[in-house]
Amino acid sequence: MSVRFDLQNVSEEYLADPYRVLAELRAHSPVHKNSDGTVVLTCYADIVQTYRDPLIWSSDKQSVFNTKFGNTPLFEHHTNSIVFIDPPDHTRIRNLFQSAFTRKALAAFVPRITGLVDEYLDRFEDQGKMEVVEEFSFRLPIEVVCDLLGVPRQDRELIRGWANSILTALEPTLVPKQLDDGNQAVIDFKQYLRDLIAYKRAHPHDAHDTEVLTILADAEADGKRLTEVELLHQCIFMLNAGHETSTNMISHGIHEMLLNPDQIDLLSKSPDLIEPMVEEVLRYQAPIQINNRQAKSDQILSGVTIPEDTTVHMMINAANRDPSQFPNPDRFDISRRPNRHLSFGLGVHICAGNALARVEAQIAFQRLFQRFPKLGLTSPAVIAPRLRFREVSSLHVCLT
Ligand code: HEM
Repeated sequence: MSVRFDLQNVSEEYLADPYRVLAELRAHSPVHKNSDGTVVLTCYADIVQTYRDPLIWSSDKQSVFNTKFGNTPLFEHHTNSIVFIDPPDHTRIRNLFQSAFTRKALAAFVPRITGLVDEYLDRFEDQGKMEVVEEFSFRLPIEVVCDLLGVPRQDRELIRGWANSILTALEPTLVPKQLDDGNQAVIDFKQYLRDLIAYKRAHPHDAHDTEVLTILADAEADGKRLTEVELLHQCIFMLNAGHETSTNMISHGIHEMLLNPDQIDLLSKSPDLIEPMVEEVLRYQAPIQINNRQAKSDQILSGVTIPEDTTVHMMINAANRDPSQFPNPDRFDISRRPNRHLSFGLGVHICAGNALARVEAQIAFQRLFQRFPKLGLTSPAVIAPRLRFREVSSLHVCLT
């Protein structure tokens, strides 16, 4: 059976609910060719294989982004970001990040995250209603990632617009204004960071040694471990990577629980389900739906030959619902174990912030559902029609 599907030209129906079409692809065309020669992968085992071998399946996007962006600031940004760099440069940069993501650094965030969540929930209690994205799930991750990096509190609103423009430019199809906005955002963001780094260097007592900005700026200062361009783009990448994804994880988690009130009851009876609950939210609505790799030589997946240089779209959203890995995959079940979803990727590029994101979600869901088990939806949630990022654009809830 042939399946008609082209990632370059998907229907509105697909954007609203990709899972039925992806199941069809997985069953009948697991290595599916798009009109532009790229390939869509939907089987869990194939996607795991591509993550596992970074030398065969490259993350380097020089040629792809050259075609997409030309010689522009967006090209410079994306090709210098850790996530689009192969070993050995990837290993050098990734090692620099490690000191920001130790257990100790993570534990230090718990009181701050708890304080922020309680502050948002106090406001919710006073108002009796809340637009979750604006008033809760967006606020928390941006505060946390800006703390992690060392961005002053008063500048945080600036980051949001830049991050949005830069990430939007990664969507498979774009209009010229999106490209212009993305390029301008990279220029403005770089200048902002240059000024901030200069300020921190002039005022070393205002910086903490676990701040990523300080760690990376020190590596740049020693002249061998990081160039200035690399420094600026890792900071931009981290600010972008660390907030939109977590925002959507929190929004989807609240939404899915409200759609499945039996799961709210289950969580209140068994609070220790909070960890598997977070994993299930991540599996069920992967905030990043697609990762990409490029074949360095001819490869065979699911019996199909993929020629050298082909770009593959690894559909995380499809892998996470592959019945060979997840029994009854379309059921949202907070007690699901094991749950080896691919929402943080796998292998050398596995999300550097995954432990932080998990802690944010655990604290956010635990405190929300413990305090307000009788939460209700005021209107249906709005899911943005985006391919790469599964975004909740609005979610109105009230106390019932
Ligand atoms: C729910 C939240 C998040 C999701 C779903 C997510 C997802 C991902 C995925 C799928 C990758 C792998 C990309 C690839 O292999 O091509 C990745 C990489 C990365 N993420 Fe996250 N992420 C989240 C939160 C965060 C946070 C909070 C941070 C930092 C504060 C962060 C920092 C990074 C970094 C630095 C990388 C690049 C790692 C590398 O290339 O070695 N992420 N993320």
